Amino acid sequence: EKNRVTDRFQRPLQDLRISVTDQCNFRCTYCMPKEIFGPDYPFLPQSELLSFDEIERIASQFARAGVEKIRITGGEPLLRKGLPELLKRLRSIDGIRDIALTTNGVLLPRMATELKESGMDRVTVSLDTLNDTLFGTINGRGVGVDPVLRGIEAAHQAGLFVKINMMVKKGINDREILPMARYFRNTPYVLRFIEYMDVGTSNGWNWDDVVSKDEILSIIGDEFPLEMAGINYYGEVAKRYRYKDGQGEIGIISSISDTFCSTCTRARLSADGKVYTCLFTGKGTDFKDFLREGASDDELYMRVVETWRDRSDRYSDERREQGASERKKIEMSYIGG
Ligand code: GTP
Ligand code: 5AD
Ligand code: SF4
Ligand code: SF4
Repeated sequence: EKNRVTDRFQRPLQDLRISVTDQCNFRCTYCMPKEIFGPDYPFLPQSELLSFDEIERIASQFARAGVEKIRITGGEPLLRKGLPELLKRLRSIDGIRDIALTTNGVLLPRMATELKESGMDRVTVSLDTLNDTLFGTINGRGVGVDPVLRGIEAAHQAGLFVKINMMVKKGINDREILPMARYFRNTPYVLRFIEYMDVGTSNGWNWDDVVSKDEILSIIGDEFPLEMAGINYYGEVAKRYRYKDGQGEIGIISSISDTFCSTCTRARLSADGKVYTCLFTGKGTDFKDFLREGASDDELYMRVVETWRDRSDRYSDERREQGASERKKIEMSYIGG
């Protein structure tokens, strides 16, 4: 039996985003700047990470409370050893009908086929520019664009549905909007633009850094006329637009200029077993210690239900109403976006 749990604003619990590691092979300037995430950075020790058994048990109780979609995130989730094994277990949970992964793509040529065979439906690959030099600077590791493009191709060849996420920051990669749109038009890949957000405390965010949805639309629309497309499912974060000439669609994730808290259906499970009910909250609810102290499945289920019923987060709406706040927030690399 499937229960539908809603929060204080009647938002249903539909998606679970599971971070499987806080580590990454990139050092993107806006996410894990080298100066902060250096050789001495205290990443989570192995013993603090949820095991696959523990993730499976928690995810099963989320499914019982209404979750149908799971997204695996990081850091870089493909760095987690044995990931395909976890996918098989998640695939077998009753009620889960969609499993996706967010990745920087460089490990996909090696892993795409095994991921698909283990039950993955689709992947979202981050790519902020097609310019090698700029990309190397942004990713902080000097990695070129080619390894990512090869990853995208490998995922497609393996039968995975692929989306591309481009984070847009003014003065850094806004000139890349049009080249990216041109490149991914008329391909099997859906390109989505993400407004730069004030996640965490290490990226020095400022309103002036944001290129808004309307600006992005006019940059692309001037060359390729666009029209609005409908929503695919309740709570979809990207607004969809179709090229009028039939060459595909784009999405824009406008969490700054056109917020979507009122339909936010996402819970986030960190690699060390805390549940966060908003990307911008500082405080999670512990599941790991609870479980390791011997909680039963029913007790885990009750904690899922209570955590969601109690939820009143609407940070992006509040930012619009009151401005960005100095509150304590978790890092993007810790919770996976
Ligand atoms: P689909 O299932 O393909 O629609 O994926 P999605 O758009 O839900 O997930 P994805 O990880 O691709 O989301 C892209 C980016 O949007 C994330 O990396 C975040 O930066 C941002 N995002 C996703 N969910 C939220 C949210 O609830 N709030 C905010 N503020 N941003 C979000
Ligand atoms: N604002 C918007 N998007 C971000 N991402 C990481 N940090 C930010 C930010 N501050 C994006 C990454 C990746 C996804 C997980 O989130 O580029 O595509
Ligand atoms: Fe870059 Fe994603 Fe790694 Fe952050 S988690 S440093 S955005 S590749
Ligand atoms: Fe959901 Fe928080 Fe993002 Fe609003 S800011 S959409 S509540 S995660």
